[in-house]
Amino acid sequence: MLLVIWVLFTASAVRGHPYLGQSATTPQVYDACVNPNDIALTFDDGPYIYLRDISAQFTAAGAKATFFMNGNNWGCIYDRVADVQYAYAAGHMIGSHTWSHADLSNRTPEQIQDAMFRMEEALSRILGIKPAFMRPPYGSYDNNIQSIAAGRGQSLALWDWDTGDADGNTTTQSEGVYSSVVNSNASNALILEHETKDTTNSTLVPFALKLFQDNGYKLVTMAECLGVNPYQAVGVNQTPSTAWTCDGTPGPGKVCGGSIACETGTPVFSSTTSSGPTAAPTPSP
Ligand SMILES: *[C@@H]1O[C@H](CO)[C@@H](O)[C@H](O)[C@H]1NC(C)=O
Ligand SMILES: *[C@@H]1O[C@H](CO)[C@@H](O)[C@H](O)[C@H]1NC(C)=O
Ligand SMILES: *[C@@H]1O[C@H](CO)[C@@H](O)[C@H](O)[C@H]1NC(C)=O
Ligand SMILES: [Zn+2]
Repeated sequence: MLLVIWVLFTASAVRGHPYLGQSATTPQVYDACVNPNDIALTFDDGPYIYLRDISAQFTAAGAKATFFMNGNNWGCIYDRVADVQYAYAAGHMIGSHTWSHADLSNRTPEQIQDAMFRMEEALSRILGIKPAFMRPPYGSYDNNIQSIAAGRGQSLALWDWDTGDADGNTTTQSEGVYSSVVNSNASNALILEHETKDTTNSTLVPFALKLFQDNGYKLVTMAECLGVNPYQAVGVNQTPSTAWTCDGTPGPGKVCGGSIACETGTPVFSSTTSSGPTAAPTPSP
């Protein structure tokens, strides 16, 4: 009996409203917004050539977007530092979509750690943030990925509506997904789209901004629609160096191993709060 209750609770915690009975800061799996009237539009797979324009369209509408970024997918994130800083400075949320967009299910713990580490390192360097959310590529995750993400302080970010914009849907079909949200009188929505599609920038974003605002919804970041913090910590960005490169890292869809050593640690993070002399390092045992 107790086991049944536990299983039901655990299942609902993952599928439905995961905040029930849990602290907002405990890493978990989110696949829906919590706050009524909020719509969170989330853009995956960048940074790419549309990041600046999508960001600017949201800003002009008084709205906020969420970007789940890769390090080495549609180009190298270190070639788009200014665009990433532009979107972040405008108050849009930046989350991790892992380094190279490899499907992480059935990978070794070291490969999962590496895919998370390299993206955290890039966000620490470029923005001075520690992300609180990781969207697993393809929405694909298992217990291993979930517990490694939790160990790194990150919740998994899924969605409850998919525009299919990068999955073969026409723009009309994707617009139909937005219309379904409104027509179903949804209380809120956490919607997947892709920063890498020309028509997402040129057509879907203007359509969605107008549709949702005309219907009285508030367009917010994913963290805001959940009422939680988007970042584990906010510090300061670092000074670019030759180490800021995608050379020698896993390419798109690839993972570490072989000639590429797996990175399993925690990236250097520059806090704003440190002041005065640095404490002496703890000697190794
Ligand atoms: C594509 O669009 C249709 C119709 O608007 C929608 O039902 C479907 O969920 C969308 N997504 C995918 C991946 O096909
Ligand atoms: C839409 O949902 C709200 C509560 O979420 C309810 O008050 C309202 O009556 C609904 N409207 C329609 C047309 O179903
Ligand atoms: C993005 O869309 C906007 C609005 O339609 C357009 O002005 C802009 O040129 C587009 N950006 C790119 C890079 O195509
Ligand atoms: Zn993706």
